[in-house]
Amino acid sequence: MNIKVLILTLLVALVTSQQYSISQCDCSQLLSEEDCQKNDMIKCQWDSTKNTCKNQDTTINPVINYAKYCDNFKEMECPKQKPCGNCGSYSACAWVEGQCTFFTDCTVFNKTTDSDCQAISNKCITDGVHCVEIDNCDKYKKQQSCVKNLLDNFCYWDTKNNNCVDADTCDKLPIKFQPHTKTCRHEIQSCTAKSGGGCIDSGINCSDQSLEIQCVWDQSMKMECYWNGTQCKDRICDNAPTTLNSDDACKLFKTDGSCTTKLNGGCITRTTCQAATISAACIKNSKNEDCYWTGTACVDKICSNAPTTLTTNSACAAFSKGCITKQGGGCVLNGDCSAANISTACVKNINNFDCIWDSTCKEKTCVNAPKSNTTHDQCTSYLSTCTVQSGGGCQKRTCDNAPITLNTNDACETYLPANKCITKNGGGCTINTTCSLISIEVACIKNSLGQPCFWHAASGSCKDRICANAPSSNNNHETLLIFFEYMYCEFYKYRMCRKNM
Ligand SMILES: *[C@@H]1O[C@H](CO)[C@@H](O)[C@H](O)[C@H]1NC(C)=O
Ligand SMILES: *[C@@H]1O[C@H](CO)[C@@H](O)[C@H](O)[C@H]1NC(C)=O
Ligand SMILES: *[C@@H]1O[C@H](CO)[C@@H](O)[C@H](O)[C@H]1NC(C)=O
Ligand SMILES: *[C@@H]1O[C@H](CO)[C@@H](O)[C@H](O)[C@H]1NC(C)=O
Ligand SMILES: *[C@@H]1O[C@H](CO)[C@@H](O)[C@H](O)[C@H]1NC(C)=O
Ligand SMILES: *[C@@H]1O[C@H](CO)[C@@H](O)[C@H](O)[C@H]1NC(C)=O
Repeated sequence: MNIKVLILTLLVALVTSQQYSISQCDCSQLLSEEDCQKNDMIKCQWDSTKNTCKNQDTTINPVINYAKYCDNFKEMECPKQKPCGNCGSYSACAWVEGQCTFFTDCTVFNKTTDSDCQAISNKCITDGVHCVEIDNCDKYKKQQSCVKNLLDNFCYWDTKNNNCVDADTCDKLPIKFQPHTKTCRHEIQSCTAKSGGGCIDSGINCSDQSLEIQCVWDQSMKMECYWNGTQCKDRICDNAPTTLNSDDACKLFKTDGSCTTKLNGGCITRTTCQAATISAACIKNSKNEDCYWTGTACVDKICSNAPTTLTTNSACAAFSKGCITKQGGGCVLNGDCSAANISTACVKNINNFDCIWDSTCKEKTCVNAPKSNTTHDQCTSYLSTCTVQSGGGCQKRTCDNAPITLNTNDACETYLPANKCITKNGGGCTINTTCSLISIEVACIKNSLGQPCFWHAASGSCKDRICANAPSSNNNHETLLIFFEYMYCEFYKYRMCRKNM
């Protein structure tokens, strides 16, 4: 029992100590100069050399800081200056006797109009005798000040009890709003306009609103309303007047675009193209896709629905994106070249890749070249990346299929650029790999890694230009360059030996 009491006591002590530490705020926690100077919980002072907030020297009056701050403003700006810590969104300053000074209180000023009070501070309005601070409705003591609260919501003067309360029901809202663009619904969502001004509870459904001025929304603001001249109705397609006879007019009637027009006028819910029975309604379906009027019916505006009078790719593309023409006229959706089944349609595939017509439509690649191309030059003029293949037709160029008339590295490079083609024994090309695979002297320059090769005349082969491959000293057929390299290698070997001795 005693232990329980003890634990409870400790808990209470813990909670109170935490609350204490939360509410206690230290000057050093305030990081900006403005927060430091304007906070009104504790007296702080900004140390501009250290850029820190510290406890205030008691000798300095806090008002001086405000006064200094307010000093900077002219008559017009002064009453609207930045908010201070304890004056909500209102000015920290007030215009008093020709100067801008620290705001203290509205009530010392005897002014009888709101504009005179506002000229001192935007926090002040009049109660008819002197200025009072804008506050909660129930703080206003006089009817004249009982207009709006700190949150800009309306107040209501209760003449029975002679007090000011929040205008929290439709009938308590004022007869005229300022500014007059505001509506009853902006203030309280379930209110609508009343004949003669002011607000009244909205009818539940549109059909319950008896006046045109009330006929905007239903009570829950889920349904827009429409005044048909004598009655208020739900603003749905079916309730549109029959004078509306175009798709645009129905889009204006219901701005979400969900209505289109119909036979004999009026509107109907937009669904599919097929559902439209007149051309005026044949514009778009509910997915916002185009419709096409064939003359007798409405269909989706897709390639397959194009009229057979369209016989060119450009006419088909204009009908709908991605369409090409087809045999007999009309259009079909492009895809691979094979989507085109007549030569006039066979131009480019859907990816803008060239097509060729060779009894069927095919991608313009080397292997698809017609067999009638039988020479290297024909294949080259067909497509610069092709060469001829045996039996006719073309193939893609590789180093190995280069014609044997090519006998320099440059010619091989031109044949198939950037593919490391070099010439080889007997002409033609091969891929540049290792020096030892290079078969002729003219090709023996560098391997595929860019390391030098040299032509070893004695063996008639191409070798890596490394010391191990250096020709023996008694071979005086080598070039001068190789000789120097040999000398270098000998010297290098000598140095290695010295080092190891
Ligand atoms: C304001 O009016 C009150 C009387 O209503 C008067 O006592 C007071 O001196 C006036 N103050 C100023 C600043 O005129
Ligand atoms: C409002 O309309 C709904 C259906 O549209 C109906 O069930 C309801 O009774 C109506 N309410 C009033 C007050 O007329
Ligand atoms: C409005 O609608 C009601 C009910 O449908 C109808 O009786 C009335 O004639 C309509 N008014 C006009 C001007 O069309
Ligand atoms: C071309 O395609 C159309 C539609 O896809 C088809 O009706 C026609 O028979 C085809 N013609 C040929 C020659 O394949
Ligand atoms: C090679 O093929 C193309 C594409 O089909 C063709 O236009 C050209 O006439 C052919 N060349 C020869 C010589 O047949
Ligand atoms: C072989 O390839 C290397 C690296 O790409 C290049 O530097 C060298 O010139 C090529 N050899 C010949 C003979 O083209």
